[in-house]
Amino acid sequence: MLYICVNLNKMSEVNQHISKLREDFLKGTLSENDVNLFPDIQFEKWMQEAIEAKVTEVQACTLSTVSADLKPNSRIIYLREFAKHDFYFYTNFNSKKAQDIASNNNVCITFFWPELERQIRIEGKAFKASDEKSDAYFKVRPRDSQIGAWSSPQSKKIADRNVLEEIITITSNLLEGKEIKRPEYWGGYVIQANYYEFWQGRKNRLHDRICYTLENQNWKIERLAP
Ligand SMILES: Cc1cc2nc3c(=O)[nH]c(=O)nc-3n(C[C@H](O)[C@H](O)[C@H](O)COP(=O)(O)O)c2cc1C
Repeated sequence: MLYICVNLNKMSEVNQHISKLREDFLKGTLSENDVNLFPDIQFEKWMQEAIEAKVTEVQACTLSTVSADLKPNSRIIYLREFAKHDFYFYTNFNSKKAQDIASNNNVCITFFWPELERQIRIEGKAFKASDEKSDAYFKVRPRDSQIGAWSSPQSKKIADRNVLEEIITITSNLLEGKEIKRPEYWGGYVIQANYYEFWQGRKNRLHDRICYTLENQNWKIERLAP
C-alpha cells in the first residue's frame, strides 16, 4: 500500500512537471513567399541547415504505417538517402512495418529537429527498393550490423535476450571469414512523396506551417493554421 502511495506521488510530481513545461519557439520564421517552389529543394535546404546546426540524429524520423485492420503504428527509422521525391530506408521485410506496408503502402515520415524548432512531415507511397539498391547499402554496413540483419527475427516475440545472443554467436561462427550477402528478407523501401509539410515553431504557439500538395503534376503551396 505504502509503495503504491509513494509511486502515485511520484507520478503526480512527474505529471505536474510535464504539464508546466513551456518552451517558446523563437529561432525562425517560414513564409509562403520565401519557401522554394519545389518541396524536395526545400527539404534539402532544411536538411543541410540541420546538418550544419549539428542536430542530433538528424537522419532519424518517425515512420507511420497503418495495418490491414486499420490500426496506426509508428516507430523511428533512419532515412539513408533522398533524391528528388524518393526517400529511402532499410529494414526487415518480415517486420511489423513491412507487413503494414504490404497491405497499405500509404506511409508518413516525420522529422523533429528541436535545435532548429522545426518539424517536417512527408506523406507518400512506399515500395520495395531495387535489389541492386538494397545490395549496395547492405554491403557498406558494418559487419556486425550485417550479422545482426541475419540474426534478428525483427518484430517477432522471443523468449529472452539469450535467444538473440545465441543466434548471433551461431551466425557469427557460420559466417566467419566469409563475405556476408544480404538476406533476401532484408532491404530497402523507397517512399515516393506526394505531400510535404514544413513547420517552424513561433512565439505563443502561433507556428508557421507551409504545405505542398501534388496536383496535376504541380506542387501547390498553402499555409496551414497552427
Ligand atoms: C534512432 C533509431 C533508429 C532506428 N533506425 C531503424 C532503421 O533504420 N530500420 C529499422 O528497421 N529499425 C530502426 N530502428 C528500430 C525501429 O524503431 C523499430 O524498433 C524496428 O524497426 C521494429 O519496428 P516494427 O516492429 O514496427 O517493424 C531505429 C530505432 C531508433 C530509436
